[in-house]
Amino acid sequence: MQPIGGAGVIRVPVQSGQRDYQVLVGNGALHEAASDLAAVCSGGAAIVVSDANVAPLYMAPVCAALRDAGCAATEVVLPAGEAQKCLARAEELFGVMYERHLTRADTVVALGGGVIGDLAGFVAATYLRGLRLVQVPTTLLAQVDAAVGGKVGVDFRAGKNHVGTFYQPWTVLADVQTLATLPARERRNGAVEVVKYALLAGGETMTLIEGALSGAPVTGDSARDPAGLCREDVVAECVRYKARVVAADEREESGERHLLNLGHTIGHAVEAAGRFSRYSHGEAVALGLHAMLWLSERLTGLDAADAERATRLLAAVGAPDRLAEVDGDTVVELVARDKKAAGPQITFVLLSAPGAPVRNVHVPSESIKEVVEWLQRP
Ligand SMILES: NC(=O)c1ccc[n+]([C@@H]2O[C@H](COP(=O)([O-])OP(=O)(O)OC[C@H]3O[C@@H](n4cnc5c(N)ncnc54)[C@H](O)[C@@H]3O)[C@@H](O)[C@H]2O)c1
Ligand SMILES: [Zn+2]
Repeated sequence: MQPIGGAGVIRVPVQSGQRDYQVLVGNGALHEAASDLAAVCSGGAAIVVSDANVAPLYMAPVCAALRDAGCAATEVVLPAGEAQKCLARAEELFGVMYERHLTRADTVVALGGGVIGDLAGFVAATYLRGLRLVQVPTTLLAQVDAAVGGKVGVDFRAGKNHVGTFYQPWTVLADVQTLATLPARERRNGAVEVVKYALLAGGETMTLIEGALSGAPVTGDSARDPAGLCREDVVAECVRYKARVVAADEREESGERHLLNLGHTIGHAVEAAGRFSRYSHGEAVALGLHAMLWLSERLTGLDAADAERATRLLAAVGAPDRLAEVDGDTVVELVARDKKAAGPQITFVLLSAPGAPVRNVHVPSESIKEVVEWLQRP
């Protein structure tokens, strides 16, 4: 690949067994992406998969860049939402690819949030055993998390991401300018993952993220809007952390990748207890991170001052700190069920300090009950 760097564009390399690629992070990067796209799909065909919220905003510049790259693009616009991440939609996309006679030399471009990225990525990984894949993430969550690392898939029955595989993209184009049109609640979702990286990485990463969040404005819906995080340096720093973890454990085998589950064990239970509608993923993970801090103070020696510092970050994002919308006992039951399903050796990721995560911590059932009770405090 022959990348050219525009002003202000940060390139984060990702190394993996499957392929090495770059995540291009920039402000206005979509307009500078033609040469990167040309390197992937010049002279071929592409389908650009997007959703009904994203396509009217960003389909045109992406298709223009593809045209400049000498690539014939077919646009596919799906309704928005998690329900689209299913086999029926995948089959529809296979149908479009079949009708257009796409070959393995052609490209799938995923333009949207994590739903589109996971679905289009799954289709790219499986049609003809794998076409080229370009991720163009347009949510903060997708830019710092979903578009990087190669996990693709669809939901199946009650199982979220139950059918899928690991398939690394050829390139990722993350334009922070696209985050300006995100609803504040979606920005907060991604911001909670950014705080997760701050806690995992500590040091200068945490200071950078604290700086970007200072003075986060209060929005109309009376929560803080972490728009300050929608910056190239912040997104690139998170991608760098994820890239390191993915390089060390591409297929979630050695356990390194479990680090990314910080706050997610209880977070997932909260999300499921609210049937995926009471709390958004980010809100649930924020509660999971609060619980993680409480447990870390008691089990892995996290300093009270560091816990307080982390709590301030979560508050600046506008994330909830009290479990009020779902039943606490259900959360405890779901954590227990998850632990059982995953096997007794699967345990929690806690912190001994910011930048010093501890994996495989055994948390007694009693402590899980206590921390969920604490989350429900008035
Ligand atoms: N593959 C992975 O490693 C990984 C990691 C984390 C999450 N995920 C998956 O990601 C999905 C969640 O992703 P998400 O939070 O991006 O949700 P999403 O894709 O549903 O996007 C959220 C909403 O924002 C809208 N939107 C997207 N970009 C926009 C923009 N720039 N301007 C205005 N509106 C915009 C979308 O239409 C949607 O309504 C879940 O399915 C989850 O399982 C995958
Ligand atoms: Zn998450």
